[in-house]
Amino acid sequence: MSHIEPVIRSARVTDAEAIARLHAESWRSSNRGLMSDRYLEDEVYAERRSLWRGRLGADDSPYLTLVAVQRDGLHGFICLKLRADPKWGTLLDNLHVDPELCGRGLGEALMRVGVAQVEQITPGLPMYLLVFTANHGARRFYRRLGGIESGEVDMPLPEGDRSAHAVRIAWPAPVLLQAS
Ligand SMILES: CC(C)(COP(=O)(O)OP(=O)(O)OC[C@H]1O[C@@H](n2cnc3c(N)ncnc32)[C@H](O)[C@@H]1OP(=O)(O)O)[C@@H](O)C(=O)NCCC(=O)NCCS
Repeated sequence: MSHIEPVIRSARVTDAEAIARLHAESWRSSNRGLMSDRYLEDEVYAERRSLWRGRLGADDSPYLTLVAVQRDGLHGFICLKLRADPKWGTLLDNLHVDPELCGRGLGEALMRVGVAQVEQITPGLPMYLLVFTANHGARRFYRRLGGIESGEVDMPLPEGDRSAHAVRIAWPAPVLLQAS
């Protein structure tokens, strides 16, 4: 991975299992304590697989999903929901990099390609995301790319009816990611 640049391409329905595996692995690595051990060990993969099969298999999906792949597998993905909110614009719904490969620029590369593609499809809209308040690494990452912390919300967790504190991070239109 350090010698070859991964290819960033549109996700296909056949990527659903690999995306779900990485999603589950990333949540186990970054959300322990927020999500229950039972969910993270026993349920997260099947639940995420069903979500990704549905999203990637839908004919008229509002989601744009990109994956970073190399010959040895899938190392990251980003998913943006187009026209998600009349005020805040595009929702950056998911961004995950293989926990073994964090800190090498792949997250930023996925953001730049994703934002450029959204701008082609729905020009001139702002963008936002919700990140758990406790996820200080991701908050620093988004701040470095020009995201502005713009309020707090309760974000529902995928298990039961629990929720956790989250911060909204916003980019005004047109979305310009700051140079890092
Ligand atoms: C947040 C994330 C997508 C960033 O991707 P990345 O490829 O590690 O990011 P880059 O290499 O482009 O940038 C590195 C920066 O990301 C931040 N970062 C966040 N989590 C990190 C981690 N586990 N390891 C290293 N850097 C991390 C740091 O701010 C780092 O900047 P620094 O060198 O100034 O400390 C990635 O770390 C990740 O998948 N984290 C877990 C899942 C997550 O929190 N997703 C966001 C949910 S909203």
